[in-house]
Amino acid sequence: MDETRIQQAKARLGIIGNAPALTKAVGRALRVAPIDLSVLVTGESGAGKEFFPAIIHQYSSRKHAKYIAVNCGAIPEGTIDSELFGHEKGAFTGAVSSRKGYFEEANGGTIFLDEVAELPLTTQARLLRVLESGEFLKVGSSEVQKTNIRVVAATNVDMARAVAEGRFREDLFYRLSTVQIAVPPLRDRGNDIALLARKFASDFSEKNMTPVITFSDQAKERLMAYRWPGNVRQLKNVIEQMALFEAGETITAETLAEYLPEASASMMPAIMQSRPLPTVTSRGESDHTYEREREMLFSLIFKMRKEIEQLREDVDQLRGPSTSLMKIHPTIIDTPAEIMDTSAEEMPPRAETSAITDEGITEKEAIRLSLERNSGRRKATATELNISERTLYRKIKEYGLE
Ligand SMILES: Nc1ncnc2c1ncn2[C@@H]1O[C@H](COP(=O)(O)OP(=O)(O)OP(=O)(O)O)[C@@H](O)[C@H]1O
Ligand SMILES: [Mg+2]
Repeated sequence: MDETRIQQAKARLGIIGNAPALTKAVGRALRVAPIDLSVLVTGESGAGKEFFPAIIHQYSSRKHAKYIAVNCGAIPEGTIDSELFGHEKGAFTGAVSSRKGYFEEANGGTIFLDEVAELPLTTQARLLRVLESGEFLKVGSSEVQKTNIRVVAATNVDMARAVAEGRFREDLFYRLSTVQIAVPPLRDRGNDIALLARKFASDFSEKNMTPVITFSDQAKERLMAYRWPGNVRQLKNVIEQMALFEAGETITAETLAEYLPEASASMMPAIMQSRPLPTVTSRGESDHTYEREREMLFSLIFKMRKEIEQLREDVDQLRGPSTSLMKIHPTIIDTPAEIMDTSAEEMPPRAETSAITDEGITEKEAIRLSLERNSGRRKATATELNISERTLYRKIKEYGLE
């Protein structure tokens, strides 16, 4: 794939970065775009998967037709068939008129099925049919309809596992993933991290007319060594907080550490893992290593305590009506359950997130207030709280806030 075409596509969509794996992913998207195959985009949460269906649509012959993005994880199971395929009048209680689904709406265009692994099995069966024959039935109808749609799907879960566990149809998986595009995690993109940080910092100050932040060399190193479990979304969030609270400053490694709430926790396993375990044969040396590690752990714990106190103060200061409480602790809250499971060591226990301060506002309360402020609109609420709609949906259920 022609390198300049890849760079042009990146510029057109606002994709920052030159890491070979990212460039390769963009190249693959451009190559498959004009060929009407289904594509599955894989990658961790926040890695930037949403650019890829957009590239595929814009560089295909369908570019003048509709592009519809559907977040399968955010639509309740009971209504997803009707959202996707439409329904007839009277198909279920409340179906006062018939409605077109996205597959009819986007006829001739592209549908992006985000978080496709969340589709219920019944919907998977309908989707397989429409992919194989272009045919579908509206909910409550027996009249077969035709549509001409290209599907690009995305997921941040291990699809092979979902198939093995019977949560995802194998035939549909093969059908969807004729071509796979893997979006690399941010931590593997080296210097792109610094590039993105600079870009997010300058975008923020331009938009809000604040003096721009810069980074010390140590801060840059720290940015690049950090694991970024929430990928680019998390980086953007951290940079924007610093751009606000440290406007005009040069960010040092110490300042940065204050904005990586789980930094201390994530450093612990790193310490344990990245250095060879002390060997039993050279006793003296091994005692020495233990001691140093213990010292480091103690200082980390002290630092964590300081950070928690600082957070408490920040929370108190931020408790104005229009301020999103969660902005200061974003990465903990917006974490899909799958990620939570696999990288538990980096996430503070859930309990911490539901009671943010002893005497202060709880997560439940924060969600309730934000829902109120946004007149119950979940998308706006999720955006304000800086969590995904799916997480919000789950939490609303969990706390009985419906
Ligand atoms: N290379 C990049 N350059 C600029 N912005 C990026 C880049 N990658 C991601 N972003 C930004 O990061 C945010 C998260 O990206 P996106 O929504 O595509 O993530 P995702 O992979 O779809 O995550 P999820 O699985 O949680 O839906 C978006 O605001 C996006 O614009
Ligand atoms: Mg997404």
